[in-house]
Amino acid sequence: MRIDIISVVPDIIRSPFEGSIMKRAQDACLADINFHNLRDYASNNYKQVDDYPYGGGAGMVMMIEPIDKCIKALKNCRDYDAIIYMTPDGEVLNQGIANKLSLLNNIIVLCGHYKGVDQRVRDIFVTHELSIGDYVLSGGELAAAVLCDSIIRLIPGVLGNETSALTDSFQDGLLAPPIYTRPANYKGYKVPEILRSGNSLEIDTWREDHAIKKTKEKRPDL
Ligand code: ADE
Repeated sequence: MRIDIISVVPDIIRSPFEGSIMKRAQDACLADINFHNLRDYASNNYKQVDDYPYGGGAGMVMMIEPIDKCIKALKNCRDYDAIIYMTPDGEVLNQGIANKLSLLNNIIVLCGHYKGVDQRVRDIFVTHELSIGDYVLSGGELAAAVLCDSIIRLIPGVLGNETSALTDSFQDGLLAPPIYTRPANYKGYKVPEILRSGNSLEIDTWREDHAIKKTKEKRPDL
């Protein structure tokens, strides 16, 4: 999967892609992440990418022209399956959306900044508008990193069997059950006996029961 991230401050999201699973995915050529600085597509000498809003009001608006140029340059090289705009007023990201996006080949992720993009960008270019929650960040960059992480870990081959995404919370509509590692007894706090029994059938049943119990307690909405 190829992901092209368009931002006015691309440097602030490079680091999440430089370690752990997102790095492993790139090293294995399962994910190809490319950053694009919108200022490189600005027309004037000031590298201007934002302007005052028509009708007045606080904040600046990201201009359509640099975004148009950047998207056009990318589209000249390949077709894209989705152009995703990160915005607090988008559809809230969930595991189902991440699952669907992980099946695509080429996507563009456009990070909003300032007050957001000129509405015409959304009308003309954007295919999906996504939020990572009902709160406002200073820009879409961190949201883009969250989105990419949620997608990349689902690409077949990125996670080994031992960390399969199939056992993640939400994959079956349930939160993951409690997990433990050594020591079996830490200052009197003991690991449930069943997990140490070696009886895989009973362990599976215990995990399922506890996943259901935890979901009912913490996220009854699921
Ligand atoms: N940009 C600013 N806040 C955001 C959010 N909550 N989700 C996605 N993009 C954003």
